[in-house]
Amino acid sequence: MSQRESGYERIECDCYETPEWVTRALLPHLGNIKSVWEPAAGSGKMARVLEAAGLQVLSTDISAGQDFLLAREQSVDAIVTNPPYISATQFIEHALRLMSGGGKVAMLLRTDFDHAKRRRHLFSDCPAFAR
Ligand SMILES: C[S@@+](CC[C@H](N)C(=O)[O-])C[C@H]1O[C@@H](n2cnc3c(N)ncnc32)[C@H](O)[C@@H]1O
Repeated sequence: MSQRESGYERIECDCYETPEWVTRALLPHLGNIKSVWEPAAGSGKMARVLEAAGLQVLSTDISAGQDFLLAREQSVDAIVTNPPYISATQFIEHALRLMSGGGKVAMLLRTDFDHAKRRRHLFSDCPAFAR
């Protein structure tokens, strides 16, 4: 995504839905997993694609009263979402904490999200970072 002023109005809660093809493109990178937690599911656009791929999906969202940043561990193989941009760093940090016992974290982010020095702990300095 671009950092230029797009001219579009900002949507409340950063609720920009993920096009289905993007979630489908992510699927092969999730490896051999059976269950997924989509913790910022919104209307369920990503969750539906994950379900259609045969995964067992737990969908939660703050709009349904489930703040992921306060959430406790769930029994899932992976946490997968397109987090709200404003709290994306906290989403990643919390997801990594919750999965520190094992499991995957996949977050859809802007291509330059890893450029910031203050996020080095999530990328080059993070032993869990794959790509
Ligand atoms: C970028 S939208 C993504 C929706 C969906 N994941 C998709 O890709 O189509 C971000 C979603 O994050 C939710 N959200 C924002 N803050 C949250 C929080 N602290 N905990 C859980 N959900 C949150 C919003 O309600 C919104 O549905």
